[in-house]
Amino acid sequence: MVIVQTIEALEEAKNALTGSIGFVPTMGALHKGHLALIQQAKQENDHLIVSIFVNPTQFLEGEDLDAYPRKEEADIKICKLAGVDILFMPTIDVMYEEDELCIGAPAVRGYILEGEKRPGHFDGMLQVVMKLLNLSGATNAYFGKKDAQQLALITQMVKNYFMDVNIIPCNIVRDDNGLALSSRNVYLEGEEKTRALCISRSLKRATNMIIAGERNTEVIKKEMLSVLEDADQVEYIAIVDREFNAVDNVEIGNTIILVAAWVGKPRLIDNLWI
Ligand code: PAJ
Repeated sequence: MVIVQTIEALEEAKNALTGSIGFVPTMGALHKGHLALIQQAKQENDHLIVSIFVNPTQFLEGEDLDAYPRKEEADIKICKLAGVDILFMPTIDVMYEEDELCIGAPAVRGYILEGEKRPGHFDGMLQVVMKLLNLSGATNAYFGKKDAQQLALITQMVKNYFMDVNIIPCNIVRDDNGLALSSRNVYLEGEEKTRALCISRSLKRATNMIIAGERNTEVIKKEMLSVLEDADQVEYIAIVDREFNAVDNVEIGNTIILVAAWVGKPRLIDNLWI
């Protein structure tokens, strides 16, 4: 594995590769969720590039940019063991210049749910993903369904800008207790770890209701809210189609149920694809 920090070094390392390139962009503090993406990319491509870059432009004023977990040494080990060919770890100066040309999230879909609660987050996320996809020269790029709206917007960006890369959606990886893995789970302290489980439990309850025949989204959301009592604050429960339009009735094969809630310090998100 080569570790590169500059565009020039990345280009040089890429020159040594022939065949398809799988690419997994991350912000580091790697966990089994990231690893699942890395392993799938490894299996489906001739070569594998991973990036680690805590992207400042997708953090809002007052968010956890400075506190965001950084575990460089462990991350490098994980990537080596996983058979990564190139690990790209740029600095902010390598990725950005002053007074940049920016692309923006779409006016409607980019400003609902996560986009409404974190206005500007998706603009910065798309800006860096555009850069990273262009730099990687990836054939296939892997993104988790955990960040469902992020995945949908990246897919739209690639379509709208005629970018030559396949976006591959990957399933959500959970702890044995149901908690969706996230780099921000390290912020959970003591009993918060148990309380945080109400998020996945609310999605499980929704699944059971749907299996039992319930389709009315208001009824399902009301029940989910009661399960979410253990959270400190529920920011949203949403039931949307795969295009992120709110729906009155669950349609099997075309529905996503999303939750965002605060438990202790972290704001956690999770979702379920029906
Ligand atoms: P990060 O939060 O590090 O996540 C990197 C990738 O791992 C994303 O595609 C995310 O959806 C996926 N992922 C995280 N937890 C997961 C889980 N439990 N199961 C499955 N996949 C999971 O998302 C970002 O970084 C950034 O926004 C990025 C795309 C790198 C742009 O800066």
